[in-house]
Amino acid sequence: MNDLRARLAQLQTDALAAVTGATDAAAVEALRAALLGRSGELTLLLRRLGEVPADERPAAGKLANAVRGAVEEALRSRLEQLSGGAIEARLAAETLDMSAPGRSSRIGHLHPTMTVERDLREIFHAFGFEVFEGPEIETDEMNFEALNIPPDHPSRDLWDTLFVAEPGADPPRPAADGTILRTHTSPVQIRAMRALRPPIRIITPGRCFRYDAVDASHNFEFFQVEGLVVDRETSLADLKGMLEEFARALYGEATRTRFRPGYYPFTEPSVAFDVSCLVCGGSGCPACGHSGWMTILGAGMVHPAVLRAGGHDPDEFQGYAFGMGLDRITLLRHGIPDLRLLMGGDLRFLEQFWTGR
Ligand code: PHE
Repeated sequence: MNDLRARLAQLQTDALAAVTGATDAAAVEALRAALLGRSGELTLLLRRLGEVPADERPAAGKLANAVRGAVEEALRSRLEQLSGGAIEARLAAETLDMSAPGRSSRIGHLHPTMTVERDLREIFHAFGFEVFEGPEIETDEMNFEALNIPPDHPSRDLWDTLFVAEPGADPPRPAADGTILRTHTSPVQIRAMRALRPPIRIITPGRCFRYDAVDASHNFEFFQVEGLVVDRETSLADLKGMLEEFARALYGEATRTRFRPGYYPFTEPSVAFDVSCLVCGGSGCPACGHSGWMTILGAGMVHPAVLRAGGHDPDEFQGYAFGMGLDRITLLRHGIPDLRLLMGGDLRFLEQFWTGR
């Protein structure tokens, strides 16, 4: 028994030294086979445990297990050391430059005209207006008749209309049901009056269309924001105060404003609303035709015929309405000289108007 004990202790010493001396994983595996394989040195010694007298066997077994555990642990940790070294060598060979700039992804942003639309929504929201939207394809009734513009009335010439064609007609002719592309957002006044009960306070942003030749200040497609208020006691003074507040919120506190007489069939009286020139501040320059003023919208008190068409009694309710072109406001805001730049979709141009939104 003492002999077995001594041989186990010697084996442990030799094995641990051999494992420490192994220089690569293959050498460690070879040692594992030589020690713990089917006819490995340690395996053979362990088989001899059976020869130990029964009373000494527990102690001998304990020692044998300790030696096997120590050898297995030595093999495992040496293998880990050696492969860890391999990873370190690989990492040293690979260079990863953490300071190199990353590949940036392209995120879009709002078109400058839509930024103006969002700003208007925010301003009017603060004044208690809600957004009420209507369709881009309208009926002649909504776009004209309900707005106090009868068929063949000369004021129709104010709007160069694009008609929806009668399906299949050759040559093309306007659809018999009177569908057109809306020439302004004013038909939504009628839709809102029919859908809501006073007090009504809405704005209606949206796309409009006119049969216009494209030039620096005209396009066949453009954006408007219309406002409508209907209540029991609404006056021209309310309209004036509202628009003055609006102009200062949009263009700054120093903005001066003025009302001029205007004409629209659906408002009476009608006004044109001017702000002090955004380029020269009012002293006169080419942008304002040397007048010091710029017209930014049309407005007026809702015509009694329009209130009636919307289902409200003009003896009981009054209202005001205003309408403005978003494209023009966008040009003025940024000093853009040509409307076609806004329509072109050229990213080199549009990316200048990054706002983070
Ligand atoms: N709809 C008019 C236009 O397109 C603008 C407007 C709206 C005028 C509301 C008065 C009241 O020119």
